[in-house]
Amino acid sequence: MKAFNDLADFSPETIRELLQLANYLEKNPQPTALSGKVLALLFLSPSLRTLASFQAAMTRLGGGAFVISPEMSIHGIETRPGIVMDGVAAEHIHEAVPVIASYADAIGIRAFGQRKNLADDLADREFHAMTELTDTPYINMESACNHPCQSLADWKTLDELHAGATNKKLVLSWSYHPKSLPLAVPAATIHMAAMRGMNVTVLRPDGFALPEPLMAKARAAANLSGGSVTETNDRKDAMQDASIIYVKSWAATNNYGDAREDLELRAELHDWRINEDWFTSASSDCRFMHCLPVRRDVEVCENVLDGPRSIVIPQARNRMLAQMAVLHEMLGRR
Ligand code: CP
Repeated sequence: MKAFNDLADFSPETIRELLQLANYLEKNPQPTALSGKVLALLFLSPSLRTLASFQAAMTRLGGGAFVISPEMSIHGIETRPGIVMDGVAAEHIHEAVPVIASYADAIGIRAFGQRKNLADDLADREFHAMTELTDTPYINMESACNHPCQSLADWKTLDELHAGATNKKLVLSWSYHPKSLPLAVPAATIHMAAMRGMNVTVLRPDGFALPEPLMAKARAAANLSGGSVTETNDRKDAMQDASIIYVKSWAATNNYGDAREDLELRAELHDWRINEDWFTSASSDCRFMHCLPVRRDVEVCENVLDGPRSIVIPQARNRMLAQMAVLHEMLGRR
C-alpha cells in the first residue's frame, strides 16, 4: 500500500480485509511485526486521538514514530507557496516534508485546509501539494475533505454494533459549535456509511448543506452497495427509525469561507444540541457516535454523551486498531 488517503481508493472487499486484519491484531498481538520501521507524523493541525493512536499503534507493532508540529521547538513552518520568507517561519514545507519523509518508512500528514476556497478544499489541494513532495508512502491523518483513518475505525465500530447488518439507518447530524469546523469528517462519514451499504440521512440546518460533489460521491458509493443517501433539515423526519446518530459540526456552506456569514448563521442555531428528545422516533437502541473532541452541553447534552447510547470511547479506541491494520499493510513484510 503506497497511500492511505481515501476509502474510495479501495474496494469494499479490501476495506473488509483491512478490518479483519485489525480484528486479528486486536486478539493476536504482533509486537515485532514492524521492528525497525519508522513512521513520521507531521501535524499542521491540532490532535489528541490521531497523535496518540498512531504512536501507540506503531509501538504495539514494534516500530517507532516521531512527531513534528509547529508548536515544537522548530523554526516555524511556512506552507504558502511562492511566499517571501521574511516573517517568523524559517522553514518551508517544501523542504520539511521531504526531509522528514527521508527519515521514515511512511509519513502521516494532518492539515485541515484553509476553509476559504471550496474548490481548493474539495480537491484537498493543500494536502496533496505536500504528498507530492515525497515518494514515501503516506497516510492522510485528516485533510480539508477527508479523514480515512476515522472512517475505517468507524466502519469497525459499526460492525461491532450491528454484526453483519449493513442496511441500518445512519443520521449524520450537524450540531451547534461556536467555531467553523472542517468538512473532512462529515464528508468521510457519509461516504463510508454509504460504501458499507447503510441508509444515510444528512440532517442539517439551512445554509449548511454538504457540497454537491461530496453528496454525489456518497450517492455513487450507495448505488454500488445497495445503500442510500438523502438530506433534510427536518429533525423528526430524519430521526425516524434511526439506528445511529453520528454528530458533527461543520462550516456553513452558503458562501463557504465567509466567516461573518458563518457566524451569523450559527448564532441562531444553539438548539442544534443533541438531547434525549431527539431520539423519540428513533430505534429504541439508537446509538450516539462522535469522532471527538466534543463540546459538552454545547454540541450534545451530558446525559446523552455519558449515557448508554454513547459509544464514543470504543469508537476512539478503534482508531488505534484500524491504524494498526493500515500500518501493517503499508510497512509489514508480505
Ligand atoms: N477524531 C480525531 O481525529 O481526533 P483528534 O482531532 O483528536 O485527532
